Amino acid sequence: MAAVGEPAVSDPSIQPRSPTVPVITDDEHLLEAFGGREGLVKIMDDVMPRWVKNPRTRPFFEPADQERIKALLVEQFCVIMKGPCTYSGRTMAEAHRGMNVNEGAFFALVEELQKSMNAMHVPFAAQNRLIAALAPMHRDIIDR
Ligand code: HEM
Repeated sequence: MAAVGEPAVSDPSIQPRSPTVPVITDDEHLLEAFGGREGLVKIMDDVMPRWVKNPRTRPFFEPADQERIKALLVEQFCVIMKGPCTYSGRTMAEAHRGMNVNEGAFFALVEELQKSMNAMHVPFAAQNRLIAALAPMHRDIIDR
């Protein structure tokens, strides 16, 4: 394992090549790729019914205040994308404490989110940037 600050790959023959497809490097454009704040609202409208339907996420979302969660997710994702928003919800640890979210539920939630992003024609590179930002949150959300 490379130490912090060292390049992860030291052998130049296995260095990644320069990207040949355009990648999104500007956070302003990331929110744009999602259709702005309005686009995030549409994604939440699309994904919440999927979470309620999916057997792995249903037990969590069916009894919850779905409209409130959707609104807070819009705020949170907008902030993640450096948009002009404020997140007014709790920390991920506080919000999910004692809920017994497991890995299966976490991955199911992300999978349904990916379906919604595809349905909304969010470019794949932009989807991946959001997923990469969400992935580290699993530590605060999953109970082991
Ligand atoms: C990266 C993954 C996740 C993100 C970004 C996320 C984000 C959020 C946010 C922003 C809230 C609102 C916070 C608040 O209530 O103040 C919330 C609440 C909630 N989340 Fe998550 N969450 C994630 C994963 C999950 C998973 C995997 C489940 C269950 C399958 C889940 C179930 C819930 C429920 C039921 C609430 C409502 C809690 C309550 O009303 O007390 N979340 N989440």
